[in-house]
Amino acid sequence: MAVRELKRGVYSVGAIHWDRRLFDELIPLPDGTSYNAYLIKGSERVALIDAVDPTKAHELIENLKRTGIAGIDYIISNHAEQDHSGAIPDVLRAFPKAKVVTNPKCKDMLVRLLHIPEDKFATVDEGKELSLGDKTLQFILAPWVHWPETMLTYLKEDGILFTCDLFGSHLATSDLYAIDRAKVYEAAKRYYAEIMMPFRAIIRKHLERIRDLRPEIIATSHGPIYDDPSFILEAYGDWVSDEVKNEVVIPYVSMHGSTGRMVDHFVEALIERGITAKPFNLTRTDIGELAMALVDAATIVFGSPTVLAGPHPAALYAAYLVSALRPKLRYASMIGSYGWGEKALEQIKATLGHLKVEFLEPVLAMGYPGKGDFEALDRLADDILKRHREDALVRK
Ligand code: FEO
Repeated sequence: MAVRELKRGVYSVGAIHWDRRLFDELIPLPDGTSYNAYLIKGSERVALIDAVDPTKAHELIENLKRTGIAGIDYIISNHAEQDHSGAIPDVLRAFPKAKVVTNPKCKDMLVRLLHIPEDKFATVDEGKELSLGDKTLQFILAPWVHWPETMLTYLKEDGILFTCDLFGSHLATSDLYAIDRAKVYEAAKRYYAEIMMPFRAIIRKHLERIRDLRPEIIATSHGPIYDDPSFILEAYGDWVSDEVKNEVVIPYVSMHGSTGRMVDHFVEALIERGITAKPFNLTRTDIGELAMALVDAATIVFGSPTVLAGPHPAALYAAYLVSALRPKLRYASMIGSYGWGEKALEQIKATLGHLKVEFLEPVLAMGYPGKGDFEALDRLADDILKRHREDALVRK
């Protein structure tokens, strides 16, 4: 990535990973990603805010050299995950006098994850300030967005809040700023769904503090920078709220077409009742799309045939994912076809575990669905409509 100046003496020096297509060997990256890092030249000292993924260390070092700096005094580490910290050892080799500045928990993690010697660190706590001369960094501890050690760094004189993963998007783009808002909104929502959604309640509290700070710029470590922070703060305000929408998410899999036929009928029944239906065929869906649909939906209905005595493993995987992402769902159910065993429902319910949802009457058909099964699907759609109406989710 080219070196670009955000404000006088503040440079973007990270790397774009245009063709990365999977993160954590789990999360699809249809638009690639970036690992943003920022160099701040104060009148007396120089600080680097975060590093990059180790695969892009050479690009970061090259960019740092292009800024013409003689050295780095501080490497600020907001988050220990390797896509931001992995290149810190490379930076320390290139600039051996630099100290890694972070909170004590992050220090412990970096020592263990990257084997950085303890004497290379200086630790900071909540509210502590670090002067670079004419520029001042302030540290704001923000645990659990999305690891326990996460923190934010605020450059006071320029009003720039460096948030690392928070507000980020997996979006490789040559735009430094969030110019294509529709595109950035989608990418940021997907990122929120995949990474941040389990920490919704905690993020809500952090949001209040960030709003009070009134930053001029929010500079994340993935995707474009927000020069109008209200755009992303309002979006997050919506996503982390308790509000749900008149939507039903249907992750499903069908082996011989019976469950698929039930899903088709059920989707039509929902549409006829004015409910938004979002079916995802688990054999070909991008799980990021599924996660994104879970940000707003009031209800989830799993569609699964029975394999041996339990659900299809793809449905079980989806249930595990839903349980882990902890969306603000209110209702759940299951539809599907079975041959001789019907333990699928019990296992889906058990996998959803601690998710606080009301389970609605499932529809399980033996073999290919018949008239009675379609009527039961209509009743389930009626039941969902009734609940959504009671919760004032349906427009009159
Ligand atoms: Fe982008 Fe949690 O690392």
